[in-house]
Amino acid sequence: MVLRKLRRYIRLLLCSCVVIFLVIFLLLNNHLPQQAPTSGHGTSTRIKHLQSRSTSPFCSQFNETMLNLDHENFPNCRPKMEWMRDNWETHACYSELGVDGSECSSFVYLSQIEQHCPPAFPSHSNIPPASVIQSRKLEELLLLLSDSDVNYNFIKSRITRLFPKWIQGINELQNSIPNLWNRPRLNLILYLGFLSHETGLKFGEKSTTGGPLGEMVQWADLITSVFILGHNVSISSEWNSFKTKADEYENQGPCPRLDGKQVDLIFTDIMGLRRIKRKKKNFFTSNKCKFRMLDSFGTHAEFNSNAYFKAHSSQIGGKNAWGGHELALQQFLTMYPHTDDNTFLGFVVETYDFHETVARENITVVYGKEKYMWKDSEPILQIAANYTQIHATVADSDEIMPAFH
Ligand SMILES: *[C@@H]1O[C@H](CO)[C@@H](O)[C@H](O)[C@H]1NC(C)=O
Ligand SMILES: *[C@@H]1O[C@H](CO)[C@@H](O)[C@H](O)[C@H]1NC(C)=O
Ligand SMILES: *[C@@H]1O[C@H](CO)[C@@H](O)[C@H](O)[C@H]1NC(C)=O
Ligand SMILES: *[C@@H]1O[C@H](CO)[C@@H](O)[C@H](O)[C@H]1NC(C)=O
Repeated sequence: MVLRKLRRYIRLLLCSCVVIFLVIFLLLNNHLPQQAPTSGHGTSTRIKHLQSRSTSPFCSQFNETMLNLDHENFPNCRPKMEWMRDNWETHACYSELGVDGSECSSFVYLSQIEQHCPPAFPSHSNIPPASVIQSRKLEELLLLLSDSDVNYNFIKSRITRLFPKWIQGINELQNSIPNLWNRPRLNLILYLGFLSHETGLKFGEKSTTGGPLGEMVQWADLITSVFILGHNVSISSEWNSFKTKADEYENQGPCPRLDGKQVDLIFTDIMGLRRIKRKKKNFFTSNKCKFRMLDSFGTHAEFNSNAYFKAHSSQIGGKNAWGGHELALQQFLTMYPHTDDNTFLGFVVETYDFHETVARENITVVYGKEKYMWKDSEPILQIAANYTQIHATVADSDEIMPAFH
């Protein structure tokens, strides 16, 4: 047990660029059960393909024994086929995509468009989806961070400083994963909700004066990784720019869009999620399984579930300000490995080669990022101050803080 914990902390401490690349690489490849394993391009190619094959020889030579509704890798095939039998007319999009009420047309639709059934046309079953586009230009990445002048100061400076190490990291990774560049290019939307001016937190502005940086570090490294891994990345820190981007992917019907355009994953934080749930409910419900939450401290099961929390609130605390979103626990990306239920998403720790011996001094660092957190702390600080100097950063204090020497 102790060993396991220790290992986790070591993992936390030793995050080099290549480790973070690997974590994010695996994260993007790791689909939750409900998630459609398609990329925008892949679907679009398949739809064109299907339309051109709508009077395909497949259905004219159709023989029910050819259809495998019980393939072990496609557990939803039979139930979906049964649903289509009675419901294919509930929305016009099914017939626009070639369904005409026949078994065969439903099967072709479910196999080619929704991937719930095994491939109908064996020779075309593996249409390669559009591949990632490599980019190693810092300028291109910085251009993506453009919907605010103040929000990204810290993130940009971290990205710029670490960029050469990221390039070194990706070179290392591609040596160990040869087909690294042969994967679908995902459409990713990143919404840094905690920076939005509507939250009133001014995290962006405070980043140079002692404001909280943990979230910024985690975001900066995620942004760099998904960009260098070659995905189609769109980044917003303000609500309006997020909304415009999300609207582009709005889908009115239950089928994939005819142009094949779809968002693959949405990265946001709890504040971003709350706003999305309030202001774009449909977008949230139709993409619920595609959300990935940057959640530095993580979310435990008992806080995630509303019913459980209500039933036990007297034992575990009165309010559930950050929880209750009822996502799959692995959708929460934490940088503190408190629980294995969440997904680990750390950040790069910079290491330096020291050649001189560093003389240690007695210094106490106090973590108290805002003034209110220091309330009633004086007696304790007094004790520490009798032995050491005390250092701290406080984001919102305009007064001179008491000097403890
Ligand atoms: C369907 O295909 C199977 C196997 O190829 C064959 O035995 C059967 O006679 C066919 N049925 C019809 C109705 O063509
Ligand atoms: C890439 O993302 C942008 C912004 O979300 C979107 O407008 C564009 O259509 C995407 N490209 C593809 C090929 O889907
Ligand atoms: C730090 O403080 C402790 C306790 O007062 C003392 O024993 C130690 O010598 C100090 N170390 C230095 C480097 O000042
Ligand atoms: C700090 O040290 C002084 C004397 O060196 C002592 O009088 C005082 O009680 C100490 N304060 C605390 C809080 O330990």
